[in-house]
Amino acid sequence: MPVDHPRTPAGPPSTVVPPRARVVVLISGAGSNLAALLDAHDDVAYGARVVGVVSDNPAAGGLAIARAAGVATAVVAPGDFPDRAAWDAGMAEAVRVFEPAWVVSAGFMRILGAPFLARFEGRIVNTHPALLPSFPGAHGVRDALAYGVRVTGCTVHLVDAGVDTGPIIAQEAVAVADDDDESSLHERIKSVERALLVEVVGRLARRGLETTGRRVRLG
Ligand code: GRF
Repeated sequence: MPVDHPRTPAGPPSTVVPPRARVVVLISGAGSNLAALLDAHDDVAYGARVVGVVSDNPAAGGLAIARAAGVATAVVAPGDFPDRAAWDAGMAEAVRVFEPAWVVSAGFMRILGAPFLARFEGRIVNTHPALLPSFPGAHGVRDALAYGVRVTGCTVHLVDAGVDTGPIIAQEAVAVADDDDESSLHERIKSVERALLVEVVGRLARRGLETTGRRVRLG
């Protein structure tokens, strides 16, 4: 005999929120790239959520930006550790607790050590204010200007054991003006860099990437 099941009463429409990729951002300074990521992550459709910010520098301006956005922060200052190996382990642990899908180095001015790279292998991206492989290192803008290039830019790349040597994910060019100094050129690069980083992190979060040797294709 057929059973007449009672109907479930209609409730308010439910919204299914897709899971967002957890992102930890590493910073050392002002944090304008971090701020751009935080602006983007408010939109659920962006696909990434900054869940933690880790800095080597307790005075980094970006820490206040993170806190104002309600994002947890951690400071892992080299001076608080007996040696480099202990700092490396501290960095890896500080990031691990956030269980990130992706680690974004955005103005983080230290080399990440082997234990950190091993733990998050293939999931660390860095943004650099020059068109790699030209002008790697801490003074990419100054070095490009001094060399006399007419076009420089920014690069978002995967992090490997070298200094700004990992496979390139995306780049944008910026023209050098005759009257540029390091500061004016860097500011122009940074406005392009922020947009590029936001786009790349969103695409990584939503669709991942494919690598073939050094060639990277965003999903
Ligand atoms: C960026 O240009 C980054 O590529 C470089 O330092 C700058 C950091 O800017 N390594 P901010 O701290 O995100 O404002």
